[in-house]
Amino acid sequence: MSRSAHPAGPRHADVLPEGHYSAPPADLNALDEKVWARTVRREADGVVTVGGIEVTKLAEEFGTPAYILDETDFRARCRAWADAFGESADVFYAGKAFLSRAVVRWLHEEGLNLDVCSGGELNTALDAGMPADRIAYHGNNKSPEEIERAIRAGVGRIVLDSFQEIVRVAHIAGGLGVRQRVQIRVTVGVEAHTHEFIATAHEDQKFGIPLAGGQAAEAVRRVLTLDALELIGIHSHIGSQIFDTSGFEVAAHRVIGLLRQVRDEHGVELPEIDLGGGLGIAYTPADDPREPHHIAKALHEIVTRECEAAGLRTPRISVEPGRAIVGPTAFTLYEVGTIKPLEGLRTYVSVDGGMSDNIRTALYDAEYSVALVSRTSDAAPMLSRVVGKHCESGDIVVKDAFLPADVAPGDLLAVPATGAYCRSMASNYNHALRPPVVAVNDGAARVIVRRETEEDLLRLDVG
Ligand code: LLP
Repeated sequence: MSRSAHPAGPRHADVLPEGHYSAPPADLNALDEKVWARTVRREADGVVTVGGIEVTKLAEEFGTPAYILDETDFRARCRAWADAFGESADVFYAGKAFLSRAVVRWLHEEGLNLDVCSGGELNTALDAGMPADRIAYHGNNKSPEEIERAIRAGVGRIVLDSFQEIVRVAHIAGGLGVRQRVQIRVTVGVEAHTHEFIATAHEDQKFGIPLAGGQAAEAVRRVLTLDALELIGIHSHIGSQIFDTSGFEVAAHRVIGLLRQVRDEHGVELPEIDLGGGLGIAYTPADDPREPHHIAKALHEIVTRECEAAGLRTPRISVEPGRAIVGPTAFTLYEVGTIKPLEGLRTYVSVDGGMSDNIRTALYDAEYSVALVSRTSDAAPMLSRVVGKHCESGDIVVKDAFLPADVAPGDLLAVPATGAYCRSMASNYNHALRPPVVAVNDGAARVIVRRETEEDLLRLDVG
């Protein structure tokens, strides 16, 4: 691996970005434990290890780019969520964040349930042995085939998302002679943002049935008339990457308002309430996520208080964290290819992946951090932009980062907190080969999703 010195980058005094990277960190070699998976360390020789394995070894054996997933951390987070919510609640891991057979087995072993939202996710879950009754099936436009497959498999719940779906699921379940357990997903008029929420009078999005205008109450009325459906509760998901519980508080208040209305109108107390996912993680050291036990305590208190006020028995709570479980457990390992200092601006550091393995920067303006992981450096901090190899100027992995000024081709960089929505949203843009996911656990590394090959791409090309 090259260790050649590189000319120091441009002076960055005039172009310092806003926010987290408004000043270089005190120590570029330090790894902030907030954003790195639990077993990641920098060893005395300067090389970073995960689960005791050097990243240089991982790069040699599995190539780059690669998602490196800390299985120890993943399992610990599953247990933390399960323990925090305890016996009176259910934790459903949201498979859309990242799903593979190994992940399904870990979830099963650690006692979690699974939320899927497509036939493909359901297939992976069942194939890897997740008991169907521990699966929740979501989606705003499930096909009749998907619905039938889910019912035949015996999924524990289908989350109904529209009036058409109420009829469709009832019809298919009736035809199969099944009484299907269902929840109704409602939109509560809360738009959650990081550190704030905005209550909206009208819903303007594709998910759920609005509470506003009595639509959700009407959906309950219809479901209760259908013998093929057993209504077990109400579902709400208010958004993603949320750091405080105030949005959940409003959501719980409104959902419990509906439960009270249902009790008053039908004499039925629905036994469950699902508050969805959306809990935030630290992408940069500036983010301050809450621990699962804080979230569990807050949600239990909110639901208990609201139910007492409404004179209802406290329903069983379920939650659906995706990002908060898998997000922090993985980093993407890249090799530096080219370096372009732009005088007066910044230095562009190109790595061997990009928007095909992490679309979140381009799509959501997401912030990430990055570290040189194959060695330490005493060089001065250099304002950098880590970019990929795609034919697009928006192909940015880390928009603003300080890297040591001697960063050179052949160095390994790692971008932490890429476990959620990176591999699962990866693409083949420019016929890129989607990177492997390598799971590391206690000194052992194994591929759980292999790297795509050019043959894989040609196999689909039947023209
Ligand atoms: N439950 C439901 C019904 C959902 O729609 C979602 C996410 C979750 C749970 C899990 O949310 P989480 O805990 O992972 O935030 N691609 C975006 C995120 C889209 C999330 C969609 N639904 C991103 O990369 O940030």
